[in-house]
Amino acid sequence: MKKEYGFTAKIYDPMLYLALNPIRKAVLKELIDHRESSILDLCCGTGNQLKMLSRNGFKSLHCLDLSESMLEVARRGDHSINVHREDAARTGFRDGEFEVVILSFALHEKDRKTQLEIIREAHRILGNDGTLLVVDFIFDERTRKTGRMGATLIERMAGGEHYRNFKRYKQSGGLSSFIDERRFKLVKSLRKASTVVTISTYRRSP
Ligand SMILES: C[S@@+](CC[C@H](N)C(=O)[O-])C[C@H]1O[C@@H](n2cnc3c(N)ncnc32)[C@H](O)[C@@H]1O
Repeated sequence: MKKEYGFTAKIYDPMLYLALNPIRKAVLKELIDHRESSILDLCCGTGNQLKMLSRNGFKSLHCLDLSESMLEVARRGDHSINVHREDAARTGFRDGEFEVVILSFALHEKDRKTQLEIIREAHRILGNDGTLLVVDFIFDERTRKTGRMGATLIERMAGGEHYRNFKRYKQSGGLSSFIDERRFKLVKSLRKASTVVTISTYRRSP
């Protein structure tokens, strides 16, 4: 997957800085009591979120992605984040290895089968009562038109399979259409980016 996100990896952080930085800060705030927890960012991309956590004293950080180009960027800088090149749908981690799993802007671009596999894997590698923090788009009656238009424009630029999956995600009702309430209880949901992004915190159930 070196080619996937090949060019995008180089421009991802600067291009999306203004849109993503307030979201990264909000995630930091949500996780502030987890400084000592083992945290895995599944589909971490450039590792931008974990780098912010690392700068703020978080200690046990793991970053996983399939794209070598994204991971090349993630490895840069002065940090002690553990970087893993693996498939988020079938990782090599032990059952219950993590206290927190982050999934940020990863699910909307996946087909339904992969979405379900990644959520199942997050459930497996989280300990009981572990925290799943999902950052992704949301389209409902509260979503403002500006937010809808901005998200759709960005995803249309990504094009191809990503855009087709994004449209399916949007039409099917987003996260609530495939995150099983019996396995993950929603405990908090925040809106960001003109209400088109949700930061959803789930508690893992057995
Ligand atoms: C839109 S980017 C989001 C990156 C980052 N989480 C963020 O918030 O900016 C989606 C990422 O998911 C990664 N990805 C896609 N499918 C994956 C898979 N099966 N396993 C691991 N990473 C995957 C891509 O390589 C890409 O880096």
